[in-house]
Amino acid sequence: MLICHNAEELAAHTKDYPQVAFVPTMGSLHEGHLSLMRIAREHGSGVVASIFVNRLQFGPTRTSIATPGPSRRTAASSSRWVSTCCSRPTSTRCIDPAGVPRAAAAARHRARGGVPAGLLRRVCTVVLKLFNLVQPDVAVFGKKDRQQIKIVRGMVQQFNMPIRIVAGETVRADDGLALASRNAYLTPAERAEAPRLYRTLRDIADAIAGGAPITRTSRPPPRRARPRRWSVDYIAVRNGLGLRIPHPKGSTTRTC
Ligand code: PAF
Repeated sequence: MLICHNAEELAAHTKDYPQVAFVPTMGSLHEGHLSLMRIAREHGSGVVASIFVNRLQFGPTRTSIATPGPSRRTAASSSRWVSTCCSRPTSTRCIDPAGVPRAAAAARHRARGGVPAGLLRRVCTVVLKLFNLVQPDVAVFGKKDRQQIKIVRGMVQQFNMPIRIVAGETVRADDGLALASRNAYLTPAERAEAPRLYRTLRDIADAIAGGAPITRTSRPPPRRARPRRWSVDYIAVRNGLGLRIPHPKGSTTRTC
């Protein structure tokens, strides 16, 4: 493994590879990242991985993506130049991904299970910068962040970037919880409880696949009425392309 200390060094190493496959990360590497790197190896003669803790992905709300502290230190020591390149302020506005509701609709969107729109714009901006630095032929992203893959694919298509986006399967712990750096934020009690989310989603998916009707329900119950252990408040059904709420003509299928 080589650690590059600037863009020129990286270009010098990658220029001889006919196919460069790229795995962007925010550090705190785990088995999920390693599986993406194995996929990258299948698609490229050279594999580049970046560690950049995107400060644009940190924010004041609880829904913002935040990667636990140790990775920040890793990133600071091992890829400071990537951070410098990516954090540099620009006079150009962030990339504005299609299919993500603008400010007025954002709160509603989030309330229905979407990732905040501003966050996705910031992810796109940083991914664009990383793509320009690395100039990969293939980039590998985890299916765990499904919305992210959709939006990056859309960006690549719309800006005619010659990069193939490959999606890697989610790697799970034995109890079903998807591996994620952010799991480190869970308390032992929350960690024990977390796999129930996956099991619940699987049960719902199986029920729908088995023909169970999806019906519109009213708002989530008020907080005080919720049990101490979490329960499903609502499910948002999205179309595959723009992640918008589908309203098929002549169908009784609805969001619930
Ligand atoms: O998925 C991630 O880890 C981040 O969103 C990414 C793609 C590295 C951009 O900061």
